[in-house]
Amino acid sequence: MSEQTITYQGPERVFSGVQPTGNLHLGNYLGAIKRFVDLQHEYNCLYCVVDLHAITVWQDPRELRSSTREVAAAFIAAGVDPERSIIFNQSAVSAHAELAWIFNCVARMGWLNRMTQFKDKAGKDKENASVGLFAYPNLMAADILAYKATHVPVGDDQKQHLELSRDIAQKFNNDFDAPGFFPLPEPLIAGPATRVMSLRDGSAKMSKSEKSDHSRINLSDDADAIAKKFKKAKSDPDLLPASVDGLRERPEAENLLGIFAALSDRAIEDVVEQFAGQQFSSLKNELTDLAISVLEPIRGEMDKLLADQDELDKVLASGAGRADEIAQPILSETKRIVGLI
Ligand code: AMP
Ligand code: TRP
Repeated sequence: MSEQTITYQGPERVFSGVQPTGNLHLGNYLGAIKRFVDLQHEYNCLYCVVDLHAITVWQDPRELRSSTREVAAAFIAAGVDPERSIIFNQSAVSAHAELAWIFNCVARMGWLNRMTQFKDKAGKDKENASVGLFAYPNLMAADILAYKATHVPVGDDQKQHLELSRDIAQKFNNDFDAPGFFPLPEPLIAGPATRVMSLRDGSAKMSKSEKSDHSRINLSDDADAIAKKFKKAKSDPDLLPASVDGLRERPEAENLLGIFAALSDRAIEDVVEQFAGQQFSSLKNELTDLAISVLEPIRGEMDKLLADQDELDKVLASGAGRADEIAQPILSETKRIVGLI
């Protein structure tokens, strides 16, 4: 039955990407960037600012450049060490786009038609969406597999894209009789904040594109803004529950307690116990202090890094050079397997 008895045997590696589109927020930090920092101790890691993904919807060129630097600065300010890990921007390493083309020819229309992110982003006017937006998950598979990355830390919203990456790897290995050539990358989606919700609506994801700025805590928010946003955050009329079971049907309570747990590196059960029977207002007060204590130093460090653009560009260029050294031999071997001279 299984032709894939030979599985990937190569080294383990972590890859993840963040788009340089507008405001980075607490969801990006807790769902992704904070995890990047922890994983550096266990794995060789590549963290990429995915500018080619960003242009699947039109970006102002000046803003694209500044957002690219901002995301790189956020990685470093949050604790990603650019010596230990590789930080770079996607368009600086040509293997991403080249491998994406090959994957465009491996992935099936039917697979991409099922992608919910495309449906959300294209909205009602699908005819007017860019071809790039539709093929976006193929590029994401190329990002990961250009390095034969085995583990991918992301928020919950990327689960379906990761499954597609696995399908592409599997189909490539089968179609070209190259068992175990590409690994089937594993998503790392865990912890209390894999899906941080909007502060105005516990049933909607916290997102860069939501119009109301009060729906999210931005990494660029100062202490006053953070305090105001948590104060105004939606709540419900009941006291906080005594157990995690009591969070069912209470998305706002679940979200704020989950954020508290993730920011303090504690289990949700533990945090629920701490606030059992208390008012939302006391949770909000403590959460505000906690969030400020974590986010203020990151914001300060980001400002410092962004003040020296040349230095930041050097970090990105050096990261791109190191990334390219890993990707080129993998791309060459892929082309050989496909029959490209
Ligand atoms: P993006 O800004 O779409 O490039 O997302 C960058 C990373 O942040 C990805 O790993 C996402 O899954 C993650 N992410 C985005 N929004 C959230 C959220 N509301 N909660 C948790 N993770 C998120
Ligand atoms: N699609 C991801 C997002 O929107 C960003 C991304 C692009 C990514 N390429 C990746 C994440 C590769 C992990 C691995 O959040």
